Amino acid sequence: MKRVLIIYYTQSGQLKQIADSLAEPMIRDKNIAVDYYRIKPVEEYPFPWTSDEFFDCMPESVEKLSVELNLDDFPVDNDYDLVILSYQVWYLSPALPVTSFLRSDVAGAFFKGRKVITLLGVRNMWVMAQEYVKECLREHKAEPVGNIVLKDKAHNLVSVLTIIRWLMGGNKGPYNILPEAGVSENDIKDTSRFAGPIIKALNENHYDKLQEELLARGAVDLKYHLMQMEKNALRIFRIWAKLIRKKGEAGNIKRRLRVRLFKYYLLFVIFVVSPVASVVFVVKRCLLYPSAKRELLYYQGV
Ligand SMILES: Cc1cc2nc3c(=O)[nH]c(=O)nc-3n(C[C@H](O)[C@H](O)[C@H](O)COP(=O)(O)O)c2cc1C
Repeated sequence: MKRVLIIYYTQSGQLKQIADSLAEPMIRDKNIAVDYYRIKPVEEYPFPWTSDEFFDCMPESVEKLSVELNLDDFPVDNDYDLVILSYQVWYLSPALPVTSFLRSDVAGAFFKGRKVITLLGVRNMWVMAQEYVKECLREHKAEPVGNIVLKDKAHNLVSVLTIIRWLMGGNKGPYNILPEAGVSENDIKDTSRFAGPIIKALNENHYDKLQEELLARGAVDLKYHLMQMEKNALRIFRIWAKLIRKKGEAGNIKRRLRVRLFKYYLLFVIFVVSPVASVVFVVKRCLLYPSAKRELLYYQGV
């Protein structure tokens, strides 16, 4: 009997649906037992978010600070052949409850020697968060063996509009000319196509070719211009994070003015600067094709 643990954190339930779709063929296999563990912050984040709450969690997300979790029931001593860490990204960093989990002593004790597949449900910017997750896993002596990224396939600016409507209004569905927000229903259902190579690797206890096989099934569709924008944005987010945190901790009313300035700055960058930056990065990709390709291959791997 092989044992798999799916660790996840979700607000809207989208990531749980993605994980369920991936797990479904494993659950049907009578030689595999699948357990779930939902990361539980002591104080849950709101969903839908108010605008102030949404932007206020940027500094702590970017600085990878911890919030308090309730991990009392985490199956730290159980034997698992494979762990699937399902997470989403907040401000180009893992969501705060996920960072907190990765930095916890419980994670330190649990991950040593474990094989880990990361499963992401995001808008479209996740590369720097994944770098951080890999760093934490390596620190805990775990072995990242696979990565699957489910994202919003709409144009970058369209996905910003739909995600704002979803995360702040609670409505994911299509609206007028706008498509549904987040990962599409079809893509969620289709996540089960990645289970085959995972089951094979699990049964053979051989993971060397797993990411290659997942990539052949479209596990990571990475756009060079988005990746470059993300790298630049994270540098600037770090400066804003420091500036905002000088005024107080998360939720402190004294930092509200700076949080709101950050919000207008971000909207300006997304809607005015990023279309121009995209063109620049597309040209850069053509001019530096071999090194751009190497970079893409690196981030598609584990
Ligand atoms: C505060 C916040 C910040 C986010 N920042 C990003 C981001 O930087 N990149 C990205 O691709 N998605 C971002 N998202 C979208 C999430 O990664 C995720 O897809 C969405 O919140 C749905 O996740 P759920 O399964 O928890 O409902 C953000 C969401 C929230 C709530």
